[in-house]
Formats: sequence, structure tokens, C-alpha cells
Amino acid sequence: MAENKRRRERTSSIDQDHTQILKLVSVLPQASQENRRKVGRLLVDYLTEHFTHEEAFMRKVNYPDVNRHIADHLKIQNFCIEYFPEALRGERGNEAVLSICAKIQEHVLFSDEKFVNYLVENGITLPG
Ligand SMILES: [Fe+2]
Ligand SMILES: [Fe+2]
Repeated sequence: MAENKRRRERTSSIDQDHTQILKLVSVLPQASQENRRKVGRLLVDYLTEHFTHEEAFMRKVNYPDVNRHIADHLKIQNFCIEYFPEALRGERGNEAVLSICAKIQEHVLFSDEKFVNYLVENGITLPG
């Protein structure tokens, strides 16, 4: 267990990003219209930067599932582009907001978790 925790800490830069993304996603549905615009913008900017960073690492460590993972990032980005205007206009907790949040959450909790496990299993250390 202690060994597992120690190995897990090596992936901290990516894990920290994921924690931050999940935090923004949990705030967004209940944010007021004014705050939703700010949180939405923050989330999109954060995601864009994170995807670039994560994809670069995946290539660097020869992650076998890299192409499917990148395609998933693209799908999320396209989904956000399509639904964010509606999400920002609507009421709290509207369907567009919830769909965007669900898609991002699912990606972080399943696809990204798979990548983090790959790093841990292969003893790969990430910088910073
Ligand atoms: Fe990802
Ligand atoms: Fe990620």
C-alpha cells in the first residue's frame, strides 16, 4: 500500500490537473449565470492546456492507447464548442451544462485514470 502511494505521487502533475478539472466541473452546474461564464472560460482554458500537456506525455512514454485518447480529447473539445453557448445562456443545472460536465468527468475518471495506472504500473515518473 505504502509503495503504491509512493508510486502514485510520481504522477502528481497530471493528478493535480485532474483534481482541478473535477473541481471546476462540480462548481459549474450550480454557478450563477455571471459566474458560469467565468468558470466555463476557466474550464475550457484549463482543459485545452491540460490536453496538450497530457498528449505530449503520452507520446513521450509511448502510451499504447494514445490515438484513441487523443480522439476522445477532440470529441470533448468539439462537444464544448457546440454546447457551451447554450450552456452559458441557460438556467442553472441545464441540460447542456450537465452534459458537458458528465462528458469531462467520465473522461477523467475512466480514460485518464487508465493512463495514470499505466504510468504507475510502468514506474514512469513525470516531471514537475
Ligand atoms: Fe485525457
Ligand atoms: Fe487528463
